[in-house]
Amino acid sequence: MSKACHRAPSCVVTGAAGFVGSHLAEALLKRGFEVIGIDNFFSGHRENLVPLEAYEAFRFHQRCITEPGLLKCIKGDHPEAAVCFHLAAVVSVPYSVEHPDECRRVNLEATRALLQQARELRFDAFVFAGSAAEYGCEQRLPIAERYACDETPRLSPYGQTKYEASKVVAGCGSRPRGVALRCFNIYGPRQDPNSPYSGVISRFVKQAGEGRSLTIFGDGGQTRDFIFVGDVVAAYLAAAGLSDEYDSPPAGIYNVGCGIRVSVLELAKIIQRLTGGEESFKFYPERPGDIRDSQADIGRFCRQTGWRPRCSFEQGLNLTINWMTGGASMAADQRRSVPGGASSLFTTPQSGGDR
Ligand code: UD1
Repeated sequence: MSKACHRAPSCVVTGAAGFVGSHLAEALLKRGFEVIGIDNFFSGHRENLVPLEAYEAFRFHQRCITEPGLLKCIKGDHPEAAVCFHLAAVVSVPYSVEHPDECRRVNLEATRALLQQARELRFDAFVFAGSAAEYGCEQRLPIAERYACDETPRLSPYGQTKYEASKVVAGCGSRPRGVALRCFNIYGPRQDPNSPYSGVISRFVKQAGEGRSLTIFGDGGQTRDFIFVGDVVAAYLAAAGLSDEYDSPPAGIYNVGCGIRVSVLELAKIIQRLTGGEESFKFYPERPGDIRDSQADIGRFCRQTGWRPRCSFEQGLNLTINWMTGGASMAADQRRSVPGGASSLFTTPQSGGDR
């Protein structure tokens, strides 16, 4: 498979103001690609766009992915657009349980429509943000891609719609090359800690920083495969064939995680230790729709692309803690930057893994 293109295609990034989308857009801009960002700020944040706006090659449209003909309209304004990274979604498992119809419209129907337009417009690649939630309460660990099938009982509309959409993307043929990345639990700078639906690491770091007890839903024995956002961005670049380090994979569905699972209680203790706080937890009832265990078999993506997660858990947590604790007292426009420069997200050295 070929490595980075000579002439940079323009890339559409839906969900560009989101946690992962903004890091992906920044990485693309740094590599010289034009980026057309789309977001409706439902869960994305304007301040995540600030570092992107420093690049002349960044364009932004405040639009909703459910708008009919959206990609055609974007292509009309940006004829060079040839790659679509589709990350915009209802991203929260509990929110999807409360709003199943909205979740289906946004996560499945809009994806189908965007893909159809990408096909008509002859895009080169369509890369979709799938999810580990597609596996439901899979008991076989680590979880291989083939374990998810139509009969898999999924616990939330989020998991179900992501499953159906990943299948549609992977089955779209060769033009565009459809790749769905089933990402496990992503964490890192810019993850919003302020909602009850926020990712557990961002919530724990905020609670620890404020000297509060960490809120544990259930008994804390549930496990997750946490992966640092910089490693996920590297996977997205590879998936689209835009990486200068990794090969591009054939169309299909691929797990992206670290291949290691950590319990929520263990995580809580590590965060207390790294932030220098006392161990203090409060237990609440288990959340509806929660899966019990999650650990990725990442062999398939690694073999196809040469990609490997590079950031150790402790390195990633420290980067996240530094950003969040430093950010608390900073103005919004300063808060965007990652300590050590955003490039530190993407250049973390190979490590023996100290999880
Ligand atoms: C997360 C993602 C989802 C992704 C999936 C892939 C978020 C918000 N959601 O869902 O988009 O597809 O991973 O695996 O990032 N918990 C606590 N205390 C808290 C918050 C959470 O104990 O204060 C627990 C939850 O009950 C859950 C675990 O931590 O058991 C992880 O929760 P969360 O970070 O919200 O992620 P997922 O639900 O796994």
